[in-house]
Amino acid sequence: MSRELSLAEIFQLGYYWETKILLTAVKLDLFSALGEHARGVADLAGRLQADAPTLSLLLNALAAMKLLTKEGESYRNSSTALKHLDRHSPQYVGHLLLLHDAEWNNWGKLEETVRTGQRSVDRHVFETDPELGGNVLAVLNRIGQQSGPDFVRQLKLAGHEQILDLGGGAGTNAIAFCRVYPEVKATVFDLPATLTLTEKTVKEGGLESRITLRPGDFNRDHLGGPYDVVLMSDILHYQTFQMNQDLVKKVFGVLAPGGRLVIKDRFLDETGTGPAWTTAFAVHILVNTQKGSCFQTGEALQWLQAAGFGSVEELEKTAVVQGVKP
Ligand SMILES: C[S@@+](CC[C@H](N)C(=O)[O-])C[C@H]1O[C@@H](n2cnc3c(N)ncnc32)[C@H](O)[C@@H]1O
Repeated sequence: MSRELSLAEIFQLGYYWETKILLTAVKLDLFSALGEHARGVADLAGRLQADAPTLSLLLNALAAMKLLTKEGESYRNSSTALKHLDRHSPQYVGHLLLLHDAEWNNWGKLEETVRTGQRSVDRHVFETDPELGGNVLAVLNRIGQQSGPDFVRQLKLAGHEQILDLGGGAGTNAIAFCRVYPEVKATVFDLPATLTLTEKTVKEGGLESRITLRPGDFNRDHLGGPYDVVLMSDILHYQTFQMNQDLVKKVFGVLAPGGRLVIKDRFLDETGTGPAWTTAFAVHILVNTQKGSCFQTGEALQWLQAAGFGSVEELEKTAVVQGVKP
């Protein structure tokens, strides 16, 4: 059994100060302004159009947080900040932190949401700021490229399947399928705005001849097919239980006999208290989406069974479930 939190750890949890200092620095684009240089406060304040004495407080805190180093009166990026927080770096992940910053005010409404049960947002940030949404998907695609091949290998395909990656985003998984199984063909179905990014990643991967892009709304439009494998990766936590039930049924209809639906998501275990990251993610989904939820693995298995799938099983605990169409 894990140990209880100490009082010091409870206090530490309550201090979100460092979080907001980091997010503000990314919003100011401070790490890009520093780049590979050592710069003084006045220089940086000029570049960022900021107030120098105020900025120096932020810079000192960032140095204490080991994101910067301070040499005399000048500041430098740490090697990690230079690699991941300088916009000019190909490994920049700032868009993800900018998303968290954009959601900051929604978190301020958590108490009200818990008291009333009413959501405080009517649109996801991706809808209010599609450019940020596209940039975040691009970062997730870069990160996902490392884990994608292992995930698709674990599915042990025969190697010549027709695959549908539903809500496939930047095409990370479709690309991984094509790389691991040289004869599969994939369709990425997503909203037209998202597919602009997908087109780019598929082209960069040289996979235009094997990956088809199909624009549409998966709750309304026809999905094409028949397919041998349908993947739903990280799409169901934006929807309600009933919408997911209906979508799983719809997918059953576009699968060939013997075909399978693989759902990869952030599921909660049967107690609802784990995995720890997902319990907090469930609250994040509550405050930042109009109707999303994190579901328990058992609920996903229920969607599959109700839709008519056989051999319904959890392939990876709280992460991947699968059903086979008889
Ligand atoms: C969190 S991303 C997941 C992307 C990808 N499946 C992955 O695992 O990396 C959710 C994706 O669902 C897409 N999406 C959301 N609602 C949709 C809808 N109604 N129809 C089609 N795509 C949708 C979004 O555009 C986005 O690309």
